[in-house]
Amino acid sequence: MSNKIVVGAQWGDEGKGKITDMLAETADLVVRYGGGNNAGHTVIVDDEKFELHLIPSGILYEDKKSVLGGGVVIDPEAMVEEMEGLEDRGISLANLYISETAHVIMPYHRMIDALEEKRKGDSKIGTTGKGIGPCYTDKTARRGIRIADLLDEGRFRAKLEKALDYHNVLLEKVYDAKTLKVEEIIKQYQPYIEKLSPYVTNTSLLLNEAHKQNQKIFFEGAQGTLLDIDYGTYPFVTSSNPTAGGVCTGTGVGPTTIDDVIGVTKAYLTRVGAGPFPTELDNEWGEYLRDKGHEFGVTTGRPRRCGWLDIPILKHAVRVNGLTEIALTKIDVLTGIEEIKVCTAYKHGEEIVEEFPPYLESEIPYEPVYEKWPGWEEDITGVRDYDQLPENAKRYIERIEELIGIPARIISVGPGRKQAIRR
Ligand code: GDP
Ligand code: IMO
Ligand code: MG
Repeated sequence: MSNKIVVGAQWGDEGKGKITDMLAETADLVVRYGGGNNAGHTVIVDDEKFELHLIPSGILYEDKKSVLGGGVVIDPEAMVEEMEGLEDRGISLANLYISETAHVIMPYHRMIDALEEKRKGDSKIGTTGKGIGPCYTDKTARRGIRIADLLDEGRFRAKLEKALDYHNVLLEKVYDAKTLKVEEIIKQYQPYIEKLSPYVTNTSLLLNEAHKQNQKIFFEGAQGTLLDIDYGTYPFVTSSNPTAGGVCTGTGVGPTTIDDVIGVTKAYLTRVGAGPFPTELDNEWGEYLRDKGHEFGVTTGRPRRCGWLDIPILKHAVRVNGLTEIALTKIDVLTGIEEIKVCTAYKHGEEIVEEFPPYLESEIPYEPVYEKWPGWEEDITGVRDYDQLPENAKRYIERIEELIGIPARIISVGPGRKQAIRR
């Protein structure tokens, strides 16, 4: 049995939703292991567009189990909204499972996320404002509230009282903001708890039982390698581990369960939010990629910053995730560009740096060293056979494979489920 991780190799929005949906056809379970509704995964099936934030992309197949592992942070309001949105479109939730140990995003997490960004001013992270960082902070500070706590009213109240003892002081004294009341939050959360409770279970047990029965599990990453709290461009990162290592801690399966790790890689590069971006195109080519690739955030609507493909980043992603292959997406967006650039290293002062630097804060900039490749004019969105691609597109793909040392087994040429080439 082949259990796979689908992980973002860059700064998120690589097309993980599309690739997961495409591959999920052969899976029995699709599992989210980290992040929350900061994610926005687009899946297009027969011209119908779904934007998923918390629920795994596998939900669109009625017979697959969709699981939210304990590493996910769940905003009950956002979760219920997403569930109802899917039900309204005729999607069944009968196979949805939510971990009892996932942490819960509370109203004060969203407030602190916004207040902290405001306090930081020019040095803000550019978060999605969904309360993700403050929720993970409470988890590690051991004052978080978990899904199982919501199911017992006495326990929920006791934990919330304790949490507010702390958070109200913070809100009032540090941020000069309004404080919150236990009763109001309980009243607000009650209908969400009722909606969520039938889906809550021990998902680690569920996954391990499924594995014993030789069922096939796909782990759907959120965010991307460079947003990882440990291996990303810290501090401009999210507060979890989107990298492959996050699967074990985020779902309660052991590393021996995993067979393949697919790194979803956009054929160029985007980033939403603040932080370093050596190959960023702050010119008409950046705008060209943004327009043609519809590079606007699914969760916040913000325009994504665009730039050329960065090989040191991909080599870093291959290494820290143990990638076995990449799925190269959005190569169709490059059609029509006369000369495509690929960053193969950085110039840092007099030095040529070939590996992505773990510490980017430096007075001396990391300037991209580019290779230039001729582009192609042909529309490739209908191509399904690798040999039918224009020679220059093949050359670009094969050069990437050579530089990163692993194959691109899936090449995505459009947003639709069927728009891909498999090799
Ligand atoms: P995710 O967060 O990694 O799931 O990616 P997003 O859904 O945030 O962003 C990817 C965007 O690119 C979505 O609008 C997808 O529909 C779209 N997309 C995915 N693959 C392709 C592709 O190969 N070509 C084109 N043109 N669009 C794609
Ligand atoms: P998907 O799964 C792109 C970014 C935010 C910000 C940083 C921290 O769709 O690829 P947070 O709200 O997590 O504290 O914000 O992380 N970010 C993403 N960028 N795609 C995502 O998810 C992201 N999730 C978080 O823009 O820079
Ligand atoms: Mg996204």
